This record gives sequence, structure tokens and C-alpha cells, in this order.
Amino acid sequence: MTQRTSNLDSKTQAFLARQTHRMLIGGDWVDALDDKRIQVENPAEETIIGSIPSAHSDDVHKAVSCAKNALSQDDWGRMRPSARQNMLLKLADLIERDARTIAELEAIDNGKSAAVAQAVDVGLGLEFFRYMAGWATKIEGSTLDVSMPFLPPEAEFSAYTRREPVGVVAAIIPWNFPFLMACWKLAPALAAGCTIVLKPAEQTSLSALYLGELIGEAGFPDGVVNIVTGDGQTTGSALVSHPDVNKISFTGSTEVGQIIGRAAMDNMARVTLELGGKSPMIVLADCDPEKAAQGTAAAIFFNQGQTCSAGSRVYIHRSIFDTVVDRLAELAEAIPLGSGLDPDAQMGPLVSQIQLDRVCSYIEKGRQEGARLVTGGERADRKGYYVKPTIFVSEDDSIVIAKEEIFGPVLVAIPFDNVDDAVDRANDSRYGLAASIWSNDLSQVQTLIPKLKAGTVWVNGHNMLDANMPFGGYKLSGVGRDMGKQSLDSYLETKAVVMAL
Ligand code: NAI
Ligand code: MG
Repeated sequence: MTQRTSNLDSKTQAFLARQTHRMLIGGDWVDALDDKRIQVENPAEETIIGSIPSAHSDDVHKAVSCAKNALSQDDWGRMRPSARQNMLLKLADLIERDARTIAELEAIDNGKSAAVAQAVDVGLGLEFFRYMAGWATKIEGSTLDVSMPFLPPEAEFSAYTRREPVGVVAAIIPWNFPFLMACWKLAPALAAGCTIVLKPAEQTSLSALYLGELIGEAGFPDGVVNIVTGDGQTTGSALVSHPDVNKISFTGSTEVGQIIGRAAMDNMARVTLELGGKSPMIVLADCDPEKAAQGTAAAIFFNQGQTCSAGSRVYIHRSIFDTVVDRLAELAEAIPLGSGLDPDAQMGPLVSQIQLDRVCSYIEKGRQEGARLVTGGERADRKGYYVKPTIFVSEDDSIVIAKEEIFGPVLVAIPFDNVDDAVDRANDSRYGLAASIWSNDLSQVQTLIPKLKAGTVWVNGHNMLDANMPFGGYKLSGVGRDMGKQSLDSYLETKAVVMAL
């Protein structure tokens, strides 16, 4: 291992020292049946730091069978809601205990800042387990009055609905927030009483495997949570097409979301999809330009721009356009680049060579399309997959870099003269994940909110996520919601019961 490990927490060092990591099936830590493996890379150093199993369809089948079997075992299937709640709370405590280790693994495997990961990714993840633990004891149906007009008037009935766990959940998650996405899928599934097979992204599986150990320590019965590692083509597609999977929960690209949505319908698996975005930010003439510049810079550059809800295009009123763009450029140029383990760094490397190439090809495209490069626009001259924070200006927002999800630190700034026109252009996208408005004019803001076609609208902020707020997209940004009570509902079936008395 070439990375500096001396300052790492002892648990992080011990975990990394294993190098040959295993996956969790039916309570056992196992290799793939055919022993195939995928290398684990540290994107800040461009070094290989270990390997994970590449699960084949037979491994996936075993994991789904274990999950199916665990559903009907007394120790999970008949567990009281309060016991489920306490087990989720116990897991949250263990995550809190090992927050530093999880954040360090995330930094080494993904490239993101360990300090930020500890506060945001791990902090939100454990908070979400506590939030969902509370729902385990609050699942309820309704009693309903029924008429049955075709039966004699003296007939009497009792009718009600009950909510039941949907069954075996397959969860497939991406590499941008590996630990947090695992929490977003596991917490509601477990609160609802489901069992789960989780497939982390092949680029970033370490934090999910570490979480698997904490799940064992918290006392979840074998087979309730299974974690299979591997790529999308082999492992992911075997999982989503398995006939015993009752619900699929996916976060990732829109293209793969569409494939998974179609696969789900073959088995009528319930499906929720949290997909890509090209989230607009609208900066109105009356706003505080300094706050807007700081906020919109954070909205795009947080997590190296690898955020599904990243504010990746900003419509700025022409009267303050130059002021805001100049300040954005200053802020971008002041961001220190460095490894996630470097406490002075504010931006890390992208996750992989592939992502670096993808982002750089978009930057090249922007230049070719005639957008004006204000700052950045190239790979940083150092080891690791670093891209300089990049800002383009363009009058025309029909260019590719203003339309497609780049998933890197690249912002397109577009001037506007008329607010209605800005809203129309903000909505003219195949995506609809999030949007933000920067203004202190309350009535103006209130009239814009209903017009924006997005699953989330933020005002004077961006990426403000909370366990109790549903998160998901309109249009090609997805189906259903993560977080909040709506997420729990998507892991439950409704059974209608009518008794003739
Ligand atoms: P991806 O959508 O291919 O990967 C996400 C997850 O899906 C991974 O676990 C992967 O193994 C799995 N997967 C891939 N193909 C699959 C299949 N056929 N069946 C089942 N599972 C499958 O995303 P990728 O290729 O890593 O990134 C490409 C682009 O996608 C990014 O540049 C970005 O634009 C977008 N993306 C968006 C994310 C979001 O949160 N909205 C997250 C990750 C990527
Ligand atoms: Mg990695």
C-alpha cells in the first residue's frame, strides 16, 4: 500500500490491511464462487489498495435465497416493531462510534474529504437510521366503511387495511455517496421489516462492507442484510432480474435506471429510481450577490460536482451577472485541491480515470461549442484524478454542457433578462431533480416555486437535505422518493381486508 496510513484510525488501518475483502451472504463473509475479483483503487494516488469479490449470478442467487429465507424466519419475520426499532438504533450508535473509520474509508476509496464525509455522509446516514427507527413502531393501516350495495341491507362488515413488508429488496447504489446511499436504502427497508441484498458500486464498496460488519454486531439475524459486490453488467443485472426480488431501489444514471425499470416490470417488482439531474439555480436581481456566489459555488463544487442534485447551470439576472460570475471565479480559484485525507484540501480527485475522461471530454465540448471559459478547464497538474473547478459562460443554454449531466466540477453561467423566461429555460430539461432560487423577494419566490418542475426547490441554499424531507425527481430524474415517510411507504405493500360479520 503506497498511501500514507500512519495517521489513519487503527480500525481503518486494520480493515485496509486485509486487502482481499469479502462479501456478506447469509451471515457469512465469502468470496465469489468462481473466485473472480475486482481491484479497489485510491483515486488520489492512482494506486490499487485491495480487491473485492466479483459476484456471479450464482452468488447473487444465493444472496437472494438467503434474503427470502430470512423473511419467514421467526427471528426477523415475527420480530416486534419495537425490537426492530432498537436494533436500528443500536446500528446507528455503532456507526457513530466508528464514524471516523467510515469517513476515512470513504476518503480513500472515493477521493472525497474525510472531514466532510464524517460530518455529512456519515452524519446524515446515522441520523437517517435513527429517523427510520422511529417509523418501525408507527406503521399503520386504516379502518374503512364499506357499502357492498349488491348484498342484502342487513349484512354487516368489518374492513381495514394493513401494511406489510414488500419482501426481498434489491438495492443498487452509485459511487458518489457510497455510505450515505447504503443508509438511504437499508434504513427504510429494515424499518419496514424487509430483507435486502445491497450491491454497492464496484468503484466504492469498502464502506458498505464495513457497514456489513456493524450490521452483524448490531445483532440483525443472518440473511436479513446481504451485501454482494461486483459490476453492473454481471452482478447488478443478475440481481434486478431475479424473480424472487420484490422491490428494486436504485440510485445512479438515468440510462441504467431505464434498463432497471424495464427489468423490474418483467417480474412486477416494485421500483424506485433516483437518477440524474441538471439542476438549475436562478439568481434574481434583488438577491445578495455575495451570498448567491458563495451558495452557488458550493452547490456545484461540493463533492467535486459528483452530486445528483449539483447546481450545474446557473441563470443570473443580467444586472448582476458580471458581479456574481467574477466572484464565482475568485471562489473557484481559491479552492485548494488535495487528497481526502489532507485536512487543508477542499476538493479531492474525481472517483476514477473513466470519470476524469468523461468530465474532460465535456469541458472540451464546451470549448468547441463556443462557451467562454472563465476559469479552470483542465486536469490539475498532479497525480490523481483532479479537475480544476471550472466555470463557463454562455448566452445559449441549448449547448451540450448546459443540457447533459457532467457529474464533475463544471458550472455553466447563463444571463437572463426576464424571470419568466429564466423559469422556462430552467424547466426546458429532460431532468427535474432539484432547483434553487436566490432572492429575498418573498412574493416573487412564492410565485416561482410552483412553476419549477423539480422534486426539490431550495431557496437561498442548495443541497439542503434532511431525513424527514422526501428526495427524488420529476421527469427522467426518477420514480418515487428516498428519505421521509414516502420512502418507508415504498417498502410496504397494502393489504385490504374485508370480513363479513
Ligand atoms: P451507473 O448508473 O452505471 O452505476 C450506478 C450503479 O448501477 C452501480 O452500482 C453499477 O454497478 C450499477 N449498474 C450499472 N449497470 C447496471 C445494470 N445494467 N444493471 C444493474 N445495475 C447496474 O453510473 P456510472 O456508469 O458509474 O456513472 C455514469 C454517469 O452516471 C455519471 O457520469 C453520472 O452522470 C451518472 N451518475 C449519476 C448518479 C446519481 O446519483 N444521479 C450516480 C452515479 C452516476
Ligand atoms: Mg475506489
